[in-house]
Amino acid sequence: MKNLVVLSGAGMSAESGISTFRDSNGLWENYNVEDVASIEGWYRNKNLMLDFYNARRRELEKAQPNEGHIYVARLQERYNVTVVTQNIDNLHERAGSKKVIHLHGELTKARGENQGYYLAHDIGYKDIKIGDKTSGGDQLRPHIVWFGEAVPELTRAASEIEKADLMIIIGTSLVVYPAAGLVNYTKPDCKIYLVDPKPVSTSAHVEQIMKKASEGMKDLWEILKG
Ligand code: APR
Repeated sequence: MKNLVVLSGAGMSAESGISTFRDSNGLWENYNVEDVASIEGWYRNKNLMLDFYNARRRELEKAQPNEGHIYVARLQERYNVTVVTQNIDNLHERAGSKKVIHLHGELTKARGENQGYYLAHDIGYKDIKIGDKTSGGDQLRPHIVWFGEAVPELTRAASEIEKADLMIIIGTSLVVYPAAGLVNYTKPDCKIYLVDPKPVSTSAHVEQIMKKASEGMKDLWEILKG
């Protein structure tokens, strides 16, 4: 089977009712990113950040994978698929994708604020509050990669992309690095499709399907079947 990598962003989950960041009325229009998604913000106001992610975790519990997630999972019938996602939701996994690399962390996990990245544990959709601690007495924090923090899964994602025969980019504005730079790790003969209803500028040579994730993945499923 050929290797296929899917690189997804917030637009992948838009049809599941989860806000993107930079569309009109996106998250960053309603919140100051430094206050709710940066390591400085954490040390400035932990309650505000815990509330922000508690609200997104409760929203996720009610959300369902959309057709786009389901088509991505179905690609496993024909390809050796790795999903590299910037999303912190679990919708790819709930749609059946088996191999998912989360570049920016996972909403349903937590870790001690002084613990290593790979010591995170599952919390499902439970809130995290000030005073919730690890057995070692460490305040719990969301297992999210905030602005100002390293992206521990970057190397693993890059090595999957270097092996890809086919890449599908879905629902990302490709403006946040280092994630956006991953498109440059593809082999010269790797075919790259991009599914997004709006034009997306990228240095990579891509074939864009100017549709939403569900519609675009349905079309791409037929193209790849041929
Ligand atoms: N289907 C497909 N694409 C869509 C849809 C949809 N239904 N709706 C919107 N989009 C596209 C938008 O056109 C845009 O190109 O999804 C993209 C969303 O871009 P952003 O909001 O910038 O989200 P993303 O690229 O994932 O942001 C990257 O920024 O703030 C950080 O950590 C955060 O992981 C996030 C990163």
